[in-house]
Amino acid sequence: MRIFLPMDSAAKALGAEDVAAALRAAAPEAEIIRTGTRGMIWLEPLIEIERDGVRYGFGPVEPDDVAGILDGTSPKALGPVEELDWMKRQTRLTFARVGVIDPLSLREYEAHGGLTGLRRALAMTGQEIVDTVKASGLRGRGGAGFPTGIKWQTVHDADGPQKYIICNADEGDSGTFADRMLMEGDPFTLIEGMAIAGVGVGATRGYVYLRSEYPDAITVMTSAVEIARAAGVLGKDVLGSGKAFDMEIRKGAGAYVCGEETSLLNSLEGKRGVVRAKPPLPALQGFLGRPTVVNNVISLATVPVILEKGAQHYADFGLGRSRGTVTLQIAGNVSRGGLFETAFGISLGEVVMDLGGGTRSGRPVKAVQVGGPLGAYLSVTEFDTPLGYEELDAAGGLIGHAGLTVFDDSTDMLGKARFAMEFCAVESCGKCTPCRIGAVRGVETIDRIAEGDTAALPLLADLCETMQDGSLCALGGFTPFPVMSAVTRFPDDFARHKEAAE
Ligand SMILES: Cc1cc2nc3c(=O)[nH]c(=O)nc-3n(C[C@H](O)[C@H](O)[C@H](O)COP(=O)(O)O)c2cc1C
Ligand code: SF4
Repeated sequence: MRIFLPMDSAAKALGAEDVAAALRAAAPEAEIIRTGTRGMIWLEPLIEIERDGVRYGFGPVEPDDVAGILDGTSPKALGPVEELDWMKRQTRLTFARVGVIDPLSLREYEAHGGLTGLRRALAMTGQEIVDTVKASGLRGRGGAGFPTGIKWQTVHDADGPQKYIICNADEGDSGTFADRMLMEGDPFTLIEGMAIAGVGVGATRGYVYLRSEYPDAITVMTSAVEIARAAGVLGKDVLGSGKAFDMEIRKGAGAYVCGEETSLLNSLEGKRGVVRAKPPLPALQGFLGRPTVVNNVISLATVPVILEKGAQHYADFGLGRSRGTVTLQIAGNVSRGGLFETAFGISLGEVVMDLGGGTRSGRPVKAVQVGGPLGAYLSVTEFDTPLGYEELDAAGGLIGHAGLTVFDDSTDMLGKARFAMEFCAVESCGKCTPCRIGAVRGVETIDRIAEGDTAALPLLADLCETMQDGSLCALGGFTPFPVMSAVTRFPDDFARHKEAAE
């Protein structure tokens, strides 16, 4: 009997290790395969038992449920996992293997299509690889949505004795976890994507700057790199091609701003994580002053499937200039939270109400923050907004790393605006005045409004304009999004304090 159980840290946090121990005790003869998560976090720990090639799910499982699951009487039976609505409605390209295979089995990785993209890339010129990524329409999934192929072209064309591929795995946005799930559930995909990037632009070294708060991902990625090197996927002669690419894992410094690419580069060089002025672009003078690709985990991990299935296959999904799939991370006060990969274009309302099932508290939804701590709060009147870079921009928001955090009607939006300013003040690298001083003044101004001084509202708007226009990076520049979206969409929450003070 083959039993699958995630070893993803979300599943572990929900008790997967106790379930594993109960399974080993009750069925010592069974083969227990630890996987990543399918992304249905409300069902974790999710056990899958394979019968006649079909995997039947049970969840959320507690150790006491194991006996019933094994003798076929469990009320937690969910039926075939692939037939569940959440799974059937997805287009899993980047996450195709996550939750399916043992993350550290290179054999299984290859059996499920792994390394096909790299093998194709090794038979191409660097320019052909870059052209393929350009044609796919892939845009950076770290936040800014910059076309990945164009960034690669700059590094490809740059002269230099040494170029680098840096994977940004700092994943500091609240409510996001796609990078972690990918690294814990299918690390070879990221390694393969980085190797393709290296061969494409002529870089022989790579680093993953991995968030220190992700110890499981660090362990899995470190082992995967060792396995890949031992198998000749990494090293001086990648898959016998004569081309070199090797990489290592570096632990992040634990600051939100170290996710900003130039601050990340400073941190990686052993310096303080302070943002650098641009130009020069990292693509021309990045790590140690050399031409450097800095890409998000999901951007890089999507490259293998583009090379495997072709640029057009990928570009055929999506909406407008947002091509391919988006790895939505649904979190906060929501009934069904987790990871859902789908073509760009799905509406915000469909994600929150239909997939997410509305709030966990059962109260009406009040706001959804899209795009992490620098993203706008959208209201239910904007539920028709399709999820795409330009579409979110038109609605006054941003898609960012595609995290969606749901809040119910008991939420005080003035408190959320204050939190955004306070977050910026705490996390500011201090390099520029609008952010360093502005965020502190922002907290003070919101406190005045909370005390009933609504005359301070125009001052807050002015301050946000200064931060937006004058900040060096998006931490100070985008904090006005959550702040002003709360003010403009939920004005009652800012006036109510005045009434209370009177
Ligand atoms: C304050 C701040 C934090 C950021 N944090 C991250 C992060 O954790 N992960 C990430 O991939 N990009 C982050 N970014 C975006 C990066 O600067 C950069 O745009 C990205 O790594 C480029 O990769 P991509 O083109 O694949 O998205 C952050 C940006 C800012 C301003
Ligand atoms: S906006 Fe803030 S985080 Fe960004 S460079 Fe200026 S001080 Fe640093």
